[in-house]
Parts: sequence; C-alpha cells; structure tokens
Amino acid sequence: MNTKIIETKVTVSSFEELDPSNQNLINKAKEEVSKAYAPYSGFQVGAAVELENGLIFTGNNQENSAYPSGLCAERVAMFYANSQYPDVAVKSIAIAAYTNGQFLEYPVTPCGSCRQVLLETEMRYDKPINILLYGIKEVFLIDNVRQLLPLCFEKSSLK
Ligand code: THU
Repeated sequence: MNTKIIETKVTVSSFEELDPSNQNLINKAKEEVSKAYAPYSGFQVGAAVELENGLIFTGNNQENSAYPSGLCAERVAMFYANSQYPDVAVKSIAIAAYTNGQFLEYPVTPCGSCRQVLLETEMRYDKPINILLYGIKEVFLIDNVRQLLPLCFEKSSLK
C-alpha cells in the first residue's frame, strides 16, 4: 500500500498586482453579475471567457424554480464561447461572485459540474486554460483546469 499526495498550485495575488489583461477579464466577469438571474439564491455570478483570437464571451448564472434546470455562470459563458467559435481555443476564464450587496472577499471556486465542463474544453483544444478567481482581498490564479480537477473522468477513461 502507498499514499499519493495530489497538489494544486494556486497563485494568490491582489487585483492591483495583476497584469492589465487579467484585470480587464476580471472586470468583464464583475460587470456580468448585475445581469444574473438568481432570484432563489441571491448569489450572482459572472464569468468571462477569452478566446485565443482575443474575443471575450461573458455569461452569468441563470436559475430556475425547478432548481437543477438552472445553469452556473461558467457554463453559460463557456458554452456560449464554444458554440460561437468552435474552432478557437479558450485562453482564460475569469469568475466573480456578488451577494448581500458586495463582491465576495475571497474567490468563489467553480462547482464540480463546471470543472468537468471546463476540463472538456481544455482537452478539446489541447491548450491550458488560465483560471482567474476574483475576490476583493485575494485573486486566485490557476494554470489549467487539471489543477482544479485531479483524478478526473475524461475521454480516455471511456476506452
Ligand atoms: N454558481 C455559479 O454560477 N458558479 C459557481 O461557481 C458557483 C455557483 C451559481 C449556481 C446558483 O445559481 C448559485 O450560484 C448558488 O449556488
């Protein structure tokens, strides 16, 4: 018997020390929260996806009275981007969340279903997706989706 330790690298930064392109993508995610449809949770999430061609697609969470029918911001934005530019890889995604009248102090991290969807996109284009998770006090930078979803189920698992 042996033990495997799985590590995730997270770079912690202030918003101010990020480079301007990352600040810009986070600002786009922050702008999105005001358009979220979140009457049940009151938890408004915005996401901004930047493609390799420089285009940015945004989205927010869309809730439903039949709760599981709703969709998280990350998947709304990612499916939007992939549906419009199926041949262009995703470079980065930024996520921000707002509740009780303010943005979260510490980053929101994507749910398991969103991680699975982000991983599919990363593997589909075979390019790492930079992940930027916004919080007022700290921003997390993660180099790729694999870091967020170790021991994942993927295409090769089907063979
Ligand atoms: N939500 C997101 O949109 N993204 C996340 O990363 C976490 C959760 C949404 C789903 C639901 O509308 C609300 O936030 C509360 O879970």
